[in-house]
Amino acid sequence: MSQRKIFATTALPYANGNFHIGHIMEYIQADTWVRAQRMQGNQVNFVGADDAHGAPIMIAAEKAGKTPQQFVADIAAGRKQYLDGFHIAFDNWSNTDSPENHELSKQIYRDLKAAGFIETRTIEQFFDPEKNMFLPDRFIKGECPRCHAKDQYGDNCEVCSSVYAPTDLINPFSALSGATPVMKTSEHFFFKLSDPRAVEFLNEWTQDGKHVQPEVAAKIKEWFGVRTNPDGSTSEGLDDWDISRDAPYFGIEIPDAPGKYFYVWLDAPVGYLASLKELLNKRGEDYDAYMADPDLEQYHFIGKDIITFHTLFWPAMLKFSGRKTPTKICVHGFLTVNNGEKMSKSRGTGLDPMKYLALNMNPEWLRYYLGAKLNGKNEDIDFTAEDFMLRVNSDLIGKYVNIASRAAGFIAKRFEGKLGAVSQDGQALLTQLREAKAGIVTAYENRDSARAARDIMTLCDRVNSYVDANKPWELAKQEGMDARLQDVCTTCIEAFRLLTIYLKPILPAVATQVQAFLNVSPLQFADADSLLGAGHTIGKYEHLMQRVVVEQLDALFEPPAAPVVEAVKPGGEEIAPTITIDDFAKIDLRIAKIVECKAVEGSTKLLQLTLDAGEGKTRNVFSGIASMYKPEQLQGKLTVLVANLAPRKMKFGISEGMVLAASHADEKAVPGIYVLEPFPGAQPGMRIG
Ligand code: 2FM
Ligand code: ZN
Repeated sequence: MSQRKIFATTALPYANGNFHIGHIMEYIQADTWVRAQRMQGNQVNFVGADDAHGAPIMIAAEKAGKTPQQFVADIAAGRKQYLDGFHIAFDNWSNTDSPENHELSKQIYRDLKAAGFIETRTIEQFFDPEKNMFLPDRFIKGECPRCHAKDQYGDNCEVCSSVYAPTDLINPFSALSGATPVMKTSEHFFFKLSDPRAVEFLNEWTQDGKHVQPEVAAKIKEWFGVRTNPDGSTSEGLDDWDISRDAPYFGIEIPDAPGKYFYVWLDAPVGYLASLKELLNKRGEDYDAYMADPDLEQYHFIGKDIITFHTLFWPAMLKFSGRKTPTKICVHGFLTVNNGEKMSKSRGTGLDPMKYLALNMNPEWLRYYLGAKLNGKNEDIDFTAEDFMLRVNSDLIGKYVNIASRAAGFIAKRFEGKLGAVSQDGQALLTQLREAKAGIVTAYENRDSARAARDIMTLCDRVNSYVDANKPWELAKQEGMDARLQDVCTTCIEAFRLLTIYLKPILPAVATQVQAFLNVSPLQFADADSLLGAGHTIGKYEHLMQRVVVEQLDALFEPPAAPVVEAVKPGGEEIAPTITIDDFAKIDLRIAKIVECKAVEGSTKLLQLTLDAGEGKTRNVFSGIASMYKPEQLQGKLTVLVANLAPRKMKFGISEGMVLAASHADEKAVPGIYVLEPFPGAQPGMRIG
């Protein structure tokens, strides 16, 4: 078969956080597939990028006191250590704010517009009058219209799971400023997916058995049918897609529409093409010519949560802007850790990939473990510590590495590193191994690395049975058995080379070590059709891989130690124990006017206040504030009175309440006592709470 030309991508991660294990799993899956393609002699460009745009990133940057560009650049600077750490070899890593993406996104939009797929419509949306911006659903909060839970997001309730529009929320408020949002109209741009041309194309494209897995096609089919909307109405076919957002927005400005930006999901997938274009430009290759090749294949690896964007919006954008549509959208499920804790985009799980690397755990253990579980279907997989240890130790060390370590020493010591002739039983074994190649290559092609790993381990078992049956350690002790010893050990080394070829997409670093040990050039799948042959000299065997030990897994999942916090003492004392709102409600605080204020004869500490708390009578209150205020400073001012404090008999008379004043716990170190005064507008008698 002639060399295939392939362009492959993984989903572009939002540039507002580090990679979590879900990202790494996807990259390992794609990287393994890409390596398997290259080992067949196919030419692959494998690219990624940061997804830079959108309101959440703009807001996070503002909070961090950075420009969005700086914010994104800082996140991008942290990517390499993860990618290198897990041997994930993208040819290019860009970001969607690149000049290439600005230009391509605008051109695709112009082409869609020329084809009659863009329409403008006036819509009503919540607007934050303080921040002066339209609010994305995630930034509107309020009371759930169904279960009345407070503080729920604008699109769904985390307590009762109901889905609704932000306008359904009770007492909505902006999560950015706290202001009550107002409804405001705005002109939005829509991509007309309801156009019969789009519906017909997507129905065919998603259901023809070529572009998505069957289980994904079945899911998409449901979206074309009749469905019930959150407001109870029904719709059929596809809805038009709102592709614009109003300023302020970190994104790409829509041509001829000042103040309007592409919604982040419009320019994000264009980022695939832009990163490719950037790569080809760097190499001095022509992007247009590359894309114009009808044989070019385009693969996108994604998670199941972003199927709609990649199987409806993206192919339609490409098709109706006159571009090549993807060859395949390869969907994987979620990764759960230690029996089911769901991998959420924002939360991550207990398995931190950076901690994994920092603990010096071998990245290829994880590549193998995940590879041995991923089967090319849209199914969730689970990582458990016990299973991980078992798989790695029994498969990689016990079955695979073991073969080399059992044979290499004899070849080195007894035969000066030279391989010998392989007799019939060894040849039969090696033939079996070579015949397994086609199945393994096909399994990799279908992203069924689980099947590939299973087949390879079955082959390892056969080789180990051959070793057990021939016992080279006994042959080594027997007189006149040198030739047989060399034959058996040569068979093992030849077998080990074949197994290494098959495992190389999953274990690229081990394969590099093995290439040095075997004294061979980089292994390709085609190399499995031949043998090293008698007379080939191998190099020195160095141990290829350590076992996983339980302490490493314990350390990996050990929760981070809680930081030792010195008891914080604001104002010289710790915050008092928590009380309930009912406890607080017992204290009746009122605005009171100081109608009169006098010194108290015989006391240097006290002032005597006559207070009007709107009760139709005044109250007499003694307060220890004489060191700070002269009576005339307070007279006529408003303050706060604890109105339901039991009256207290004092030396100078009865005090009928208490005025609120602030002081440091250590009066000597920080002297001063400050009477509270309300903002203008408060009236005597008003309750505080
Ligand atoms: O869901 C996400 O994390 C998105 N940032 C994925 C974008 S994929 C592509 F379209 F860019
Ligand atoms: Zn609810």
